[in-house]
Amino acid sequence: MPKLSVRHVSKSFDNGEQDSTLVLDDISFEVKDGEFLGILGPSGCGKTTLLKIIAGLIEPDAGEILIDDVEVKLGHSRVGYIFQQESLLPWRTVRKNIEFGLEVKGVSEEEMRSRSDAVIALVGMKGYEDHLPHEISGGQARKTEIARSLVTSPDILVADEGFSNLDAQTRNHLQEEFLRVWQETGSTIVFVSHNVDEAVFMSNRILVMSNIPAKMLVEYDISISRPRRRATSECLTYRAQILDILKIEQEKAMLMQRS
Ligand SMILES: Nc1ncnc2c1ncn2[C@@H]1O[C@H](COP(=O)(O)OP(=O)(O)O)[C@@H](O)[C@H]1O
Ligand SMILES: [Mg+2]
Repeated sequence: MPKLSVRHVSKSFDNGEQDSTLVLDDISFEVKDGEFLGILGPSGCGKTTLLKIIAGLIEPDAGEILIDDVEVKLGHSRVGYIFQQESLLPWRTVRKNIEFGLEVKGVSEEEMRSRSDAVIALVGMKGYEDHLPHEISGGQARKTEIARSLVTSPDILVADEGFSNLDAQTRNHLQEEFLRVWQETGSTIVFVSHNVDEAVFMSNRILVMSNIPAKMLVEYDISISRPRRRATSECLTYRAQILDILKIEQEKAMLMQRS
């Protein structure tokens, strides 16, 4: 039984003109329990939209999302979300940011404390609990966001654009930390990125999306043993294949714009 099933999901948005723009066109795929799935696609192809539909933040026009073979609806809270933009509340400490979702749910003070302690230790933010977001680094902010998404013990974790907005060294460190968290928690991950190297380094499997209306173009099983090393010939072979596909997509998009 797959952990997550995306079945025939379509979504259009109003574009201010008479007809609307079809963004996701009949998207279907499955994610196994404990799998690390990477999704790559050109900018604007609907990756964030897809993650929001999976997380129950927006409703698809057609299709359904199933977790453990049961359909979930708008507003469900089975998915932890690591947002594309930094999203910590600046006036709340690291701990208070992490506990926010539990507070909203009315979880007791004691349980909140024990759960936040566990995820703070898991992501390596011990000693920074009482810092405000402006008192920590960009990498630590991302770790805090990971902890916040884990604190409700979600079935599935989705990460939007991974760690692409950070400097290379911080990004590499966070990728490794995130893999450690994945292995320690046994979570099921859907990891969206526009960075091919990042996706190849992290994922068990990669789906590549087309330009809008987005379809799934190809699927790669990344059969590289772990722990992985960066920029090995195996990684570079996958990278070259995926970059070729993305280049063709980009050329198609440019031709469409001209016509
Ligand atoms: N709320 C919205 N209203 C109208 N158009 C939207 C909305 N959200 C996204 N879009 C459009 O849908 C397309 C896909 O957006 P998005 O999912 O953010 O892409 P990606 O994350 O792959 O860059 C874009 O053309 C974007 O302008
Ligand atoms: Mg996006």
